[in-house]
Amino acid sequence: TQTGTQAPLTLGFKAISGSTTDAVVVPPGYRAQVLAPWGTSLSSAGRQWSPDMVLTPEYQAGAMGMHHDGMYHFPLNDADASRDFLLAVNHEYIDQGALWAPRNGPTNNASGARPADEVRTEINAHGVGVVRIRQNDNGHWQVVQDDRHNKRYTSQSPMILTGPVRGTDHVRTAWSPDGTRVRGTNNNCASGYTPWGTYLTCEENWPEVFINRGELSADQKRLGFPTDRGRYGWETATGGKEGEFERFDNTPTADSATGDYRNEARAFGYVVEIDPYNPESAGHKRTALGRFRHEGCWPGRVVEGQPLTFYTGHDSRNEYIYKFVSRKRWQAADANRPGETYDRHAIGDSYLNDGTLYVARFDDDGRGQWLPLTPESSIPGGGPEGAGTLGEVFGDLAGIIINTCDAADLLGATPMDRPEWGTVDPATGEVYMSLTNNSKRTAQGTEASYTEKGTDIDQMGVGYATAPVNAPNPRPDNEYGQVLRWKDDADSPTRFQWEVFLFGSAANEDPRVNRSGLTADNQFASPDGLWFDQRDSAGHGILWIQTDNGLDKGRGNAVAEATNDQVLAVVPSAMGSGNAGESLKRFAVGPNDCEVTGIFATPDRTALFINIQHPGNWPAMNSDDATVAADGAVRPRAATVVIQRDDGGPVGV
Ligand code: FEO
Ligand code: CA
Ligand code: CA
Ligand code: CA
Repeated sequence: TQTGTQAPLTLGFKAISGSTTDAVVVPPGYRAQVLAPWGTSLSSAGRQWSPDMVLTPEYQAGAMGMHHDGMYHFPLNDADASRDFLLAVNHEYIDQGALWAPRNGPTNNASGARPADEVRTEINAHGVGVVRIRQNDNGHWQVVQDDRHNKRYTSQSPMILTGPVRGTDHVRTAWSPDGTRVRGTNNNCASGYTPWGTYLTCEENWPEVFINRGELSADQKRLGFPTDRGRYGWETATGGKEGEFERFDNTPTADSATGDYRNEARAFGYVVEIDPYNPESAGHKRTALGRFRHEGCWPGRVVEGQPLTFYTGHDSRNEYIYKFVSRKRWQAADANRPGETYDRHAIGDSYLNDGTLYVARFDDDGRGQWLPLTPESSIPGGGPEGAGTLGEVFGDLAGIIINTCDAADLLGATPMDRPEWGTVDPATGEVYMSLTNNSKRTAQGTEASYTEKGTDIDQMGVGYATAPVNAPNPRPDNEYGQVLRWKDDADSPTRFQWEVFLFGSAANEDPRVNRSGLTADNQFASPDGLWFDQRDSAGHGILWIQTDNGLDKGRGNAVAEATNDQVLAVVPSAMGSGNAGESLKRFAVGPNDCEVTGIFATPDRTALFINIQHPGNWPAMNSDDATVAADGAVRPRAATVVIQRDDGGPVGV
């Protein structure tokens, strides 16, 4: 793709060394600014953040949530798109120690029950924040408090179910007897966007907040459901209205006093569409894009008159990569009109509720096939009890969606090393996806049996016992991860070509492990966030790679010893044209104990936005970020960080 008359793009910054400090480190000539940390109020009225504050449900509902992850920008007008826009940010999960620091941690009463207002505060610290931000004349960015677009979506906000699962028996609850609505979006990890100006936020580790004390259903087993206590014990609180807390307990019950919420969690595990321009609108869960632990959702190339494609993946060990292809063909009349308020969800309905969901099979010869998850799809070799098609096993499309991963198993999808972020080169249509690591990958594989439930949060213990190595996941006990690249065939929606683009590794590993020849200056592990930063219509761009490797995850590998999590950059060359490791450069390193996630740049590329998630102490050193309490204790705050050049030029080149 490096053709045409323009000079090839080159990275113009000096690569930095690894770092293990409580600071965001950037190259010489660059600076980093903290923006919109957890607890920043979206309005100027009433209390403002202080490091000693005990948060209430009301305060947290009007302030930035915790653990920033995926994010994207939405211009209010084209002229100021790089200086003044709406920022949508996911708040993936919480650090209870930091949230309840003034109380020395969360409260459990003698019976182990949580106080209702603590639970409400935690629920309100999850979800999505939409906030207007603006750059001052001195280059400093700030939150525009009181802007009419500022809004928090939480794990309590009413949401609308759309697509094949809407209105089916799978999702009827005491609160939504017709199965069309649910409260909350949960554990929103990575993000995406649509060409009509909406934000896509993806529900990843949502099973952890539900429980079922009875016999687990097939989908609960497969996705990993606690059987005793939820991640934060939300189901133990009492005194709410309309099943406010009971809904987290999905144990089947005949008790009409608390209501039947056995189906509550079937309204989770989706790609959720949010219209940042219209704070009056509710989130729309797009069930047609599958139900699993969704990492994120990324649009393919947008071409007039062609169907839209969205790529998505399931972040668990030995789970799958998917794509959704809309039935409706793209028409430019549906494109975003920045800053205007109109019914974008109606446009979303027309593209995202009707189409075909496919799962990927990667073949050893560098070719691949998208397998349609439809009732008519035949099961190679036959299914359980002699079933010939997915419809015979799961009933209808809604049944397939509820059990997406089981259906994908039957079609022979390729189990992957934990799919995380994807990104698409809009000029060429090439898709990149991080496969972060996999401790359940072995040379031979072991019997495919499923564990009873998830064992921990950030590396899910569900899926196969172990899977054998295969061409796109060739390293056993894969602790470093890799970045995959593929391109769909121009003349077929079901075939593609693929290659491993880049292997993570410690520099000192054997070449059979360090396959991309990484050195001390660019070694990395556990790739996660990705963003293809298009710089021209010929396909020149920078691939930014973020990592989630950290020592605190128990991954005590040589990379974690040498550096905190980081941002790297590479200018990809054409498929099949050599080793990306040679031109990979380290651009930024995060503070201790964090992961670095969430990424985009302004349209003029003068400001690169990243998120620092679950820091240990940071940003204590920034005096204006109010992290240190009066008693001197550090109360860490996840935050967005804006990286800019001192001379105001474009980042990276
Ligand atoms: Fe929330 Fe798979 O990262
Ligand atoms: Ca991630
Ligand atoms: Ca991760
Ligand atoms: Ca995370």
